[in-house]
Amino acid sequence: MDVPAVQAPVVTVTRDNVQAALIDSGYYQASDFTGLGSAAPAPAPGTLAVGIVLPTRDEPRWIQDETRFKEALEAAGYQVEILFSQGDSSREQANVESLITKGIQVLIITPHDGTAAAASANAARAAGVNVISYDRLIRETEAVDYYVTFDSIAVGAQQAQFLVDNATGSGNPLYLYAGAATDNNAFIFFEGAWGVLQPKIADGTFVVANSSEAEALSGSATLTREEQARIIGQITTNWDFNTAKTLAEANLTAAPDSAKGDVFVLAPNDGTARAIADTFATDPAVTSFLITGQDAEQASVQYIIDGKQSMTVFKDVRTLVQSAIDAAVALLTDSSPEASGSYNNGRIDVPAVQAPVVTVTRDNVQAELIDSGYYQASDFTGLP
Ligand code: BGC
Repeated sequence: MDVPAVQAPVVTVTRDNVQAALIDSGYYQASDFTGLGSAAPAPAPGTLAVGIVLPTRDEPRWIQDETRFKEALEAAGYQVEILFSQGDSSREQANVESLITKGIQVLIITPHDGTAAAASANAARAAGVNVISYDRLIRETEAVDYYVTFDSIAVGAQQAQFLVDNATGSGNPLYLYAGAATDNNAFIFFEGAWGVLQPKIADGTFVVANSSEAEALSGSATLTREEQARIIGQITTNWDFNTAKTLAEANLTAAPDSAKGDVFVLAPNDGTARAIADTFATDPAVTSFLITGQDAEQASVQYIIDGKQSMTVFKDVRTLVQSAIDAAVALLTDSSPEASGSYNNGRIDVPAVQAPVVTVTRDNVQAELIDSGYYQASDFTGLP
């Protein structure tokens, strides 16, 4: 039977609302506790509280982050210094050390090499500095307090889904490209893509044209990190435009005409997509190609409008920047940032918050990128 019931509410209590929930309500007396209300004050405006280290100025993606960080942190009244590592782990470590010396309390860092950056995270922890891994996870250390990221599995899955949705029949040539093996995200993107592509490789919709390792593993729905590494080893762009171009040229030179015609290309991000697209466009035996991307870089949005790149995955950097700042402010005021899950970095489960991503094609550039205020219509020509 249904027993009639009455149900009383419950309330989450953390250090932040002890006073309001338990003292002000009269449930306990302030004199029952010591240290009430002694939360560390936020650093005075004008002191350098937060240091940011980004991987390179040479990719528009990270300039987007720099711009959005500056806007948001100035608005929040925090002084901030942003340094770039220019794809060099020793420069990255020197950047971190200089920020520690300047007295930062929170480090927000996108590692160039996720494992090599463990040394910097350890140095920060030893100096009492909190570490927020930004977009890319620092691996193999316990000294990471928090991870702010996009849903990177969804990035790869959306790229792959676009290719699957646009393929008909069987035997479609598929060219696979990946990011840098030193970047944990390259594995996550590939994992997301593989989950969608593998059944369509196994059933003959696609034929992998440029990776014998992917062909050999085409019966495996999930791959170990070591298996992923074997494939990525053959198809890596190292996140570098020139490497991407050279690899695409080599793949097309090696491919028989039967692997050309109407082809499908999994490109991991916008910079490499433009380099690979320009290369495929010059091969007379390639009649048409569909190619993916990610980051909604301005140059790629123009490529999409012009029909030279097929899609991108829009990662709204404003959201990620805001999550990182919220986490930094929480850490500066001695409370825990909110987490919606965690990512294992090889040593610990790092508390994480994850932002959603959106597929953008020519059809929704206006709605997703202009109407949202991310870009101005005047940034582009020929908007549909
Ligand atoms: C980021 C991408 C970026 C790539 C190359 C990845 O870790 O998530 O947005 O395109 O690195 O810099």
